[in-house]
Amino acid sequence: MLNLAILISGRGSNMEAILKAIKTEKIPANTAVVISNKPDAKGLEIAKKLGVKTEVVDSHDFKGDRWEYDKKIIAVLEKYNVTPENGLVCLAGFMRIISSEFIKKYKNRIMNIHPALLPSYPGLHAQRQALEDGAKYSGCTVHFADEKVDHGPIILQATVEVKKDDTEETLSERILEQEHKIYPEAVRLFALGKIKLKEN
Ligand code: GAR
Repeated sequence: MLNLAILISGRGSNMEAILKAIKTEKIPANTAVVISNKPDAKGLEIAKKLGVKTEVVDSHDFKGDRWEYDKKIIAVLEKYNVTPENGLVCLAGFMRIISSEFIKKYKNRIMNIHPALLPSYPGLHAQRQALEDGAKYSGCTVHFADEKVDHGPIILQATVEVKKDDTEETLSERILEQEHKIYPEAVRLFALGKIKLKEN
């Protein structure tokens, strides 16, 4: 069975959506571990309440040194038997750039969610960028992570209409509702072996 690790930095609402879909057997996978780079991430408490093992790999002292940090994450993945053969690593609001070494080792086994219709608006404050541009539609994207930030083969997207009176908060809220649908669905498809990658 697919062995899942979820990496978070904060609130953990996407993580929660995935964990609940596994608990209710909508996704045929085992949750091995939730890892946070922040000791005070709210999502850690949610994971514990759901009976999932958690680990903190504090990134405080590793600001620029991505590979040195990612080696510590990989050691935790190995401890929980989340391997490039049987595993999936879900980035769920994990606000660190992943090293190319990590991406290569877990090639097409690292998924990310981003609150925009990629390739538009990668990076921080995607919802704000959409509003500032006067975009009429935005949304969210689940994709396999590659070496670039918020980039890589797209798996699922959901569109959200941008309303005239939207603020960053209201738009983010409506996008987040869609994130909670498409991320568990992408993991489900992966677990069922229904995602095939051909030249991206
Ligand atoms: C989500 O909106 C996710 O799409 C975004 O961070 C939020 C995390 O929320 N990720 C990115 O912007 C990645 N570039 P959550 O902790 O409640 O899941």
